[in-house]
Amino acid sequence: MTYVKPNSFNIKSYKLLAGFGDSDLKTMTRRTLFILLLTINILALPLTEAYKILLVSPMPARSHSILGDGLVRHLSQAGHEITYITAVPHEKPMAGVKEIDVSSNFRLFNDSEISLKLFLNNESKMGSMTIMIDLMATLAEETLKHSSVQKLLENPTQEFDVIIGEWMMYDLYVGLSAIYRCPYIWFSSVDPHWKVLRSIHEMSNPVYVLDSLSANTPLSYYQRLQELGSLIKQILFNINSLVNPRENEDYERILVPIIRKRGYPVPSFEELRYNVSLVLGNSHESLGRTMALPANYINIGGYHIDTNVKPLPEELKKIMDNAKHGVIYFSMGSNLNSQTMPDELKQSFLKMFGSLKQTVLWKFEDDLPNKPNNVHILKWAPQPSILNHPNCILFITHGGLLSTTETVHFGKPIIGIPVFGDQFSNIDKAVAKGYAKRVDLSYTMADDIKIAIDDILGDPKYNAKLKELSIVYHNRAVEPAKNLVHWVEFVVKTGGARHLRSPALDVPRFKILCLDLIFIIIATLYIIKISVTFAFKKIIRKMKQFNKSDKKKQN
Ligand SMILES: *[C@@H]1O[C@H](CO)[C@@H](O)[C@H](O)[C@H]1NC(C)=O
Repeated sequence: MTYVKPNSFNIKSYKLLAGFGDSDLKTMTRRTLFILLLTINILALPLTEAYKILLVSPMPARSHSILGDGLVRHLSQAGHEITYITAVPHEKPMAGVKEIDVSSNFRLFNDSEISLKLFLNNESKMGSMTIMIDLMATLAEETLKHSSVQKLLENPTQEFDVIIGEWMMYDLYVGLSAIYRCPYIWFSSVDPHWKVLRSIHEMSNPVYVLDSLSANTPLSYYQRLQELGSLIKQILFNINSLVNPRENEDYERILVPIIRKRGYPVPSFEELRYNVSLVLGNSHESLGRTMALPANYINIGGYHIDTNVKPLPEELKKIMDNAKHGVIYFSMGSNLNSQTMPDELKQSFLKMFGSLKQTVLWKFEDDLPNKPNNVHILKWAPQPSILNHPNCILFITHGGLLSTTETVHFGKPIIGIPVFGDQFSNIDKAVAKGYAKRVDLSYTMADDIKIAIDDILGDPKYNAKLKELSIVYHNRAVEPAKNLVHWVEFVVKTGGARHLRSPALDVPRFKILCLDLIFIIIATLYIIKISVTFAFKKIIRKMKQFNKSDKKKQN
């Protein structure tokens, strides 16, 4: 930086002082300029390594866009150029970021399906795995067929150094790597799932690698049976999709023509599916289950949380500062609209909250008449800033993964009311880790929540557990944000991190299970057994004959 200074010299006084002629001054200025340019060049050195990155994160959900935005933020701050396919575009994208708006994906998710009332009455269809996967398949197809995405893909001069796709039960986006002939990275928003692990390693063992959406702990016979059953069901579903190959078909129909237009070779979809360079997982041992992971599965859970927590709005800060007995924060997340909460439930919540001495912050989209004085309604809630406030003592949440992550990050115990998707397993894991209580959705849940509040606030074990987890969470060799940037750059620099590729991917299943060896061993044993029996029989027969002839001779 010291080199920049000469530029601020007053040239006239410089000339006078040194007694230089005009031509001297010219060379001097030229020299100064040269040094200046050199300095700028040196300072900007990391920027010359800017990579072109395509991020495909088209889930029409606020929580997923927070994760996508986090990736974009860290990668663009590291100087890379991002093309970001998103359903939640910004009015002003970050510097170096080009957004491709696929907000039309929102119409695929029927909002009326995500209603508290439907879940309360067990009428929602969102719970079904097959419906979910079908929906994800439609989402991927719609995204790639979107006119703005097509415009991008059809542009013959567009190149990328690496593609990051958000993995949501459906692998179609790996096909993009054949268009740009560049490495492919999956980003998984959930705990390591066997299906995405399978793209970089062998099939997981269901006895200790549970389905990440499962709430089981691998203990009882029955639970192991359940895990095996769920695995077989999903494999059958996959076989069904082989018979009725939607991913293959979508690849052939939507992506292959574009690959052909570029004049590139067309790999089979299966080749691409198992050619993924790396998986970035929004997971960490402090948050989910411990797993033996392949070398190219990188945990970055917590990266989306801004380490500079924004200050609270003035009014909210005052409320929280003045809460003598602490603040309980209640939010059912961004997907579940509290307006769909039945009236009787709202009233019972208000009554229960009114009976507490703590201050309650309730994130709710509507005004609530007759609310008690200690209850404050927030239409919009700066969640990290609220959780970061020392007076916040408890968080009542639906248990989305972002919320449970933020809980551990800021060290606040939770009461979880899971509603759909991964929320059940998130809450069950939090309960198993010892910093949460689970309350199930019901018309009488206000009473259950009151019991859980009394229990958590009256027992120091929850906070003690959080302190332990906090050590595991915050003491990483590399911060998750830096780690993610490092690994994305690493994949580009090494042309796809081939040396991390699991050898299991190139070995057929029957060899992994040693079926051929077992067959040969059994066959050998069988042949030995037959030969021995045969030999024995022969010897015995011979001995009998010998005996007989002996007896004959004696006679
Ligand atoms: C698999 O990935 C590597 C590294 O990105 C690449 O060099 C190779 O061409 C890919 N193979 C196929 C079949 O696309």
